Amino acid sequence: MRIDILTLFPDIFTSFLDGSLLGAARIAGLIDIRITNIRDFADGVHRQVDDRPFGGGPGMLLMPGPVVDCVESVQQSDPLPGHLLMLTPGGRRLDQQLVEELAAKDRLVLLCGRYEGFDARVRQTLQPIEISIGDYVLSGGEVAAMAIIDAVTRLVPGVLGDEESARQDSFSGPERLVEGPQYTRPREFRGLQVPEVLLSGDHGKIAGWRHQQAVDATRRRSTTELTPATVVTFQ
Ligand code: 6GU
Repeated sequence: MRIDILTLFPDIFTSFLDGSLLGAARIAGLIDIRITNIRDFADGVHRQVDDRPFGGGPGMLLMPGPVVDCVESVQQSDPLPGHLLMLTPGGRRLDQQLVEELAAKDRLVLLCGRYEGFDARVRQTLQPIEISIGDYVLSGGEVAAMAIIDAVTRLVPGVLGDEESARQDSFSGPERLVEGPQYTRPREFRGLQVPEVLLSGDHGKIAGWRHQQAVDATRRRSTTELTPATVVTFQ
């Protein structure tokens, strides 16, 4: 799989891309990730990429010229055209279903925005797939691009090393359940015991218990509010 990242802040990606899982997958030739600086396609001595919105309003917008030129140059650098993903809070919300769809593609081009967003003609010209990683505002698309690359590349065959571990992840499988609790040694920690069933050696029973735990964990999920009572205290 080839992934291109188009950004005004290429340095943000360096340690992320060289990190253990991704770095090894790149060296092994499983994924080819390239970064292009949108500013390289800006004109003038100031290499300007952003400007104030017509009609007024806060902040700065990315100008269409450098962005469209950058995308066209990157697309043309490989005979295989990539699926163009524009990272913006108004896009389709990323979930494991979308991650699986993206992981099936041979080439992705991730366009990161900054400032208050893109001039609308970028969308009109390039017709990207717009993606958001959740309903909150980030300062730019770079963190979202890293989330997408992390989630997608671990589904590329060979990247994890253990295909079974991706299949057992939260949100995979037809039910899209989160994972239930897991335990390792020791068998007892501060008086807390590992559930007996996990030590039973009965694989059918273990699978049934794990499934029920996942159903319970999915139902219980994300209802906790931040109150004074949720501050963790120690004796
Ligand atoms: Cl993709 N970009 C920005 N700037 N904010 C976001 C986002 C993307 N997804 C959620 N919030």
